[in-house]
Formats: sequence, C-alpha cells, structure tokens
Amino acid sequence: MRMRKKKNGASRLAACAHLLCEKPETPIASAEADFHRPGELHLEVGCGKGGFACGMAKAWPDVNFYAMERVNDVMVLAAERAEREKDGRPDNLRFILGGAADLGAYFAKSSLSRIYLNFSDPWPKKGYAKRRLTHRGFLRLYWSLLREGGELWLKTDNTGLFDFTLEEMEALGLAPYFVTRDFHATPEAEGNVMTEYETNFSSQGIPICSLRVKKQGELPPEEKE
Ligand SMILES: C[S@@+](CC[C@H](N)C(=O)[O-])C[C@H]1O[C@@H](n2cnc3c(N)ncnc32)[C@H](O)[C@@H]1O
Repeated sequence: MRMRKKKNGASRLAACAHLLCEKPETPIASAEADFHRPGELHLEVGCGKGGFACGMAKAWPDVNFYAMERVNDVMVLAAERAEREKDGRPDNLRFILGGAADLGAYFAKSSLSRIYLNFSDPWPKKGYAKRRLTHRGFLRLYWSLLREGGELWLKTDNTGLFDFTLEEMEALGLAPYFVTRDFHATPEAEGNVMTEYETNFSSQGIPICSLRVKKQGELPPEEKE
C-alpha cells in the first residue's frame, strides 16, 4: 500500500501502543499470553487500514485476533480505526507492526487456528516471486504456525497471484477444499467481512478470487524448491 508519510505518524503510533503487540521473549503459544483468556488465535497478514480485522473481531467476540502490517503509517490507520469503532474498541484484537518473514518470532509452532491473506501485494515481476506472501517459503512458515486442522483463507482480485498461489500449493502437496474465482457469488460469502481493497474492487465489478485450505499433517521436508 503506497501512502504519503503521515504527519505526526510516530506520535500517533505511540498513542496506540496499548494495541500493539511487542515482539515477545518467547513466541506466543496461546491466547492467554495477550488476551488472558482461552480461545482460538486468528492472524491477518497485511491488514492495511484494518477494516477486516476490526469487522472480524466484532463479529467473532470469542476469537482472538492479531492483525500484522509492516508499514508504520498504515498501521497507525488500522489501530486508530480500532479505537474509533462505534461500539467501542474490540478487546479481542491486537496489532503487530512487522513483516511476515518475522512471524516465527511472534508465534509458536501450531499456535494459530487461522491465517487470513487479503489482497496481498501481487509483486508481478518474476524476480520478486519470493516476496509474494503465498510463495512456498511463506506457505511453509504459515504451515508450521497453524495447528492441525487450522486453515489459511485467501482473497484477492489478482488472478496472476491467485494462479501462482495454486501452483505453489500444488508444489507443496496442499489441496484447497474451497476455490472460486467469483467469491461473492458463493454461499461462503454470507457473513463475509469486506476489506478496504475488496470494497473498492467489488464496486468496480471486479470478481474476487478466494481459496481456503486446511492443515492436515506436516509438509514434506524442504528440498531444492
Ligand atoms: C494491497 S494492501 C491490502 C490491504 C488490506 N488487506 C485490504 O485488503 O484492504 C496489502 C497490505 O499488506 C502489507 N504488506 C505487504 N507485505 C507485507 C509483509 N511481508 N508483511 C506484513 N504486511 C505486508 C502492505 O503494507 C499493505 O498494507
């Protein structure tokens, strides 16, 4: 997400520090660590302005959500949005300022029940494939953090990224149980919480691709990929 540098970005972020999860000394293994209660842990990677994370946290009060974003000035908008929620800030939502490659420092193996990737940057140039959040290196990382039966849910407008994701999953032997190139026309869209990008693309009539895949066993050891 490109964004002009925010005025007072640092002080605005500091004002939201209570919503931010610092890098823990030991990776988070359960909801007790930050939320002081039991329950599933869900993570959105690349939350942008936070509409999805806030909407999900309100819709699912028993689930504990983390929303990760690597750009400071975007994180500010997401955290401020959470503070502004009209029925009060959801207390089941924390933000992580950082990049996906660092997820292993935040979360223990098998700690997460769900990971959401919403409209991830497509990085269309071939040389940047490793930066795509569905490159097999990232998929391996997500797999190690998901508990058995946990799921990865993805939405995107970008058919190139979607095709790439399916290829990367196939290379790892992962078979999504739900795949669509017109998500809003499926029954799964009922109760869907829209992201900012999704609202924008949908209003232009652009169909949304989506897939869901469940963790069933560990991945085979890494070879030369
Ligand atoms: C295209 S925007 C989509 C934002 C939001 N998910 C939505 O659907 O409205 C992608 C977001 O992911 C963030 N991002 C990209 N790569 C990331 C990474 N490696 N780790 C964390 N966030 C990342 C970007 O800074 C940007 O805010």
